[in-house]
Amino acid sequence: MNEAGTRAIDCPDEAATLRLGECLARAIEPPFIIFLQGDLGAGKTTLARGLIRTLGVQGAIKSPTFTLVEPYQTARFAVYHFDLYRVADPQELELAGLRDYLAENALILIEWPERAAGLNLVPDMQLSLAPSAVDGRSVEIATSTPAGAAVLARLAPCLTQHQALDRSGKLT
Ligand SMILES: Nc1ncnc2c1ncn2[C@@H]1O[C@H](COP(=O)(O)OP(=O)(O)O)[C@@H](O)[C@H]1O
Ligand SMILES: [Mg+2]
Repeated sequence: MNEAGTRAIDCPDEAATLRLGECLARAIEPPFIIFLQGDLGAGKTTLARGLIRTLGVQGAIKSPTFTLVEPYQTARFAVYHFDLYRVADPQELELAGLRDYLAENALILIEWPERAAGLNLVPDMQLSLAPSAVDGRSVEIATSTPAGAAVLARLAPCLTQHQALDRSGKLT
């Protein structure tokens, strides 16, 4: 981790992105807000899926593209997975009760948070995904609150192991 509280992680394939979600699931304590940024197909939903699955949710974890939000109740806390791609006006989010979700002791995952720019939401952690190599993604983790920094610190051993696995994967 550098002084700015950011960290870059390589996810050479989809399994590695799912594993990064797994690391996050083990480190998070609610209330916690994560922004997932990156273009269509960057892997935002894939990462969310790895995270939500690790929290014990069985069955399909669908992209909330058409529903705006997919709610989950896990053994530890509620998760609300948003995809704001189709939101034209942040006012729609106020009407959809976004503030009520934010007030809960829950984990909030938001894809396309740019669409809610007018609401001045403050994420604890931002994950920015971008393509790298053929099927790889590089994921930059940035934190902007003490809670975010605490989770990133708790995450560090899992991330180190994650990157070591990737390297050994490349050698074989
Ligand atoms: N390293 C990787 N990480 C995540 N997804 C990957 C990776 N390599 C290939 N993919 C594929 O890219 C697509 C990512 O889709 P998705 O997670 O829905 O993206 P987004 O939610 O950002 O639009 C999936 O079809 C997935 O199988
Ligand atoms: Mg998506």
